[in-house]
Amino acid sequence: MKAIVCTKYGKPDVLKIVAIEKPIPKDNEVLVKNFATSVTVADCRVRGFDVPASFWLPARLALGLFKPRKSILGSELSGIIEAVGKNVSRFEAGDEVFAFSDHKMGAYAEYVCVAENDCIALKPENLSFEQSTVLSFGGITALYFLKKGRVSKGDKILIYGASGSVGVYAVQLAKYFGAEVTGVCSTGNLELVKRLGADFVIDYTKTDWAELNEKFDVIFDAVGKTGISQIIKTTKPNGRYIHLVATPFTELKIRWRLLSSKLKFIGGTYNSAIANEYIHFIKKLAVEGVIKPVIDKQYCFDEISLAHEYVDKGHKKGNVVITITDLRRSAMVDKA
Ligand SMILES: NC(=O)c1ccc[n+]([C@@H]2O[C@H](COP(=O)([O-])OP(=O)(O)OC[C@H]3O[C@@H](n4cnc5c(N)ncnc54)[C@H](OP(=O)(O)O)[C@@H]3O)[C@@H](O)[C@H]2O)c1
Repeated sequence: MKAIVCTKYGKPDVLKIVAIEKPIPKDNEVLVKNFATSVTVADCRVRGFDVPASFWLPARLALGLFKPRKSILGSELSGIIEAVGKNVSRFEAGDEVFAFSDHKMGAYAEYVCVAENDCIALKPENLSFEQSTVLSFGGITALYFLKKGRVSKGDKILIYGASGSVGVYAVQLAKYFGAEVTGVCSTGNLELVKRLGADFVIDYTKTDWAELNEKFDVIFDAVGKTGISQIIKTTKPNGRYIHLVATPFTELKIRWRLLSSKLKFIGGTYNSAIANEYIHFIKKLAVEGVIKPVIDKQYCFDEISLAHEYVDKGHKKGNVVITITDLRRSAMVDKA
């Protein structure tokens, strides 16, 4: 089968397509013929080893000292189950599924094995494989942090980075939980964020949100551009500050500064065990049309370096998809 490998840290052109052995599912695994994957910020971070200097050593120990430990990147996938291990009871061959392999990666490949109890669910029938693929990374992350922040009816939430893959789901989910949503993004994304349901939008290139004299119950920062003085000034007593991109060191600094306030800080990374549960909730909301995936650009498998170059710029709108099998083309070939 074909797979994209990353055998050294570097620019997008380190990614190469190679032929490797098709995997064989273990007893508790399903073998998915993968139709679409995505390029997330996490894939680009690993490929380019783009981490803060203070985090260099722990990150190298975690990701691989001299090269990425997981040579096949990609965490989102969707496709059809081709085979199941002998102990699998929840899925069968022919099921259409989408899955999130998280830090195990491996989704830049034509076939992927996923344990049936990992983060995998039946694909929403109303969505394409491409759309289903991009539900999990942003959707699960947004859901996890909004739940940790107990976002609920009547809360005023500011979502900084409202047009990114986490942001587009955070806006839709916060509205679903009954919050009043203010989305912060650049000029070109204002319409998108409004369309996703934000009550108010702020263009960060023109307006300093912290100077607007507004008080929020929750600040959700998916970019890492909010400062602690801004947070203290703009958050109600007992407010929550959700920060998705803090290193352990910045987290410590924030927690220290907040010691004398009643603000609750929520950082760290989502818990993978919970992700396995949340994928089913995300699927349900997608089927009901509560959340809609946003696809910015779609590339073919052999355009992976171009896709990484685009995501590296840090301004994608929602998600970037990689089509592994062009279903329309395969259908035509089958017919012929
Ligand atoms: N803690 C966790 O468990 C966890 C999980 C997943 C992701 N993350 C992190 O969350 C972050 C967001 O991920 P993502 O997938 O949503 O990224 P993304 O799709 O690349 O989105 C990036 C966002 O940043 C905004 N942005 C870029 N430069 C900006 C600037 N100078 N000022 C204000 N906004 C700016 C972009 O908006 P414009 O284009 O409008 O500028 C865009 O909305 C990443 O850093 C990722 O590593 C953390």
